[in-house]
Amino acid sequence: MLRLVMPGLNYLDGYAAALARGWSPDTGKDVSAAQLAQVRADRAGFVANMARLDVGTLVQPDGTLKERISGRIAWLWDGEFYGVINYRYLHGTEDLPAHVSGHVGYAVVPWKQRRGYATRALGLMLPIARQDGLRRALITCDFDNEASRRVIEAHGGAFVADAPPLQDGEKQKLAYWIPT
Ligand SMILES: CC(C)(COP(=O)(O)OP(=O)(O)OC[C@H]1O[C@@H](n2cnc3c(N)ncnc32)[C@H](O)[C@@H]1OP(=O)(O)O)[C@@H](O)C(=O)NCCC(=O)NCCS
Repeated sequence: MLRLVMPGLNYLDGYAAALARGWSPDTGKDVSAAQLAQVRADRAGFVANMARLDVGTLVQPDGTLKERISGRIAWLWDGEFYGVINYRYLHGTEDLPAHVSGHVGYAVVPWKQRRGYATRALGLMLPIARQDGLRRALITCDFDNEASRRVIEAHGGAFVADAPPLQDGEKQKLAYWIPT
């Protein structure tokens, strides 16, 4: 059975094993070695930080720092760790700051891809976003990310003509609104 679980110590070995296999939860850059070092240094601190999406800053491609915004992160679990899904939002609005390209992001470990897992995970996350007051979610993907595009379309994603502006070095994006 596929579940969303809160990052926690009881799931951390599975997460760390995926990092050790070279999987990176950040699709923009390879953070596997850095995260693995953090896990080894402080397991409890790592999971505590993981759950706090709104704390700290994000380093942009041009080196500037931007505030994180609130959100939720879940680890994907089928009896083993299989990926992550998160969403970010501003309370009371569906607008996002310019440096946040979409509400939802997800990644499935390569050895569990093409089993419908990302599609199912998004289906589990959308009602949680709705409970937080978000009636529709903006999701973006690279124009050539067919797998992600199919996940989005499976949930009724409506194509948005004007994708959010690109950051330096980013590929052309496709943007969609998905009803939660
Ligand atoms: C995108 C990603 C999360 C999809 O995960 P997944 O669990 O394999 O997705 P699903 O099994 O639910 O597949 C969804 C659809 O994409 C198709 N698909 C999956 N992998 C594919 C691939 N590499 N090439 C083409 N189509 C693919 C599936 O056949 C399925 O199609 P269908 O709905 O017509 O049957 C996964 O490829 C991934 O983690 N990629 C790297 C991170 C990433 O790109 N995240 C998204 C950022 S927007």
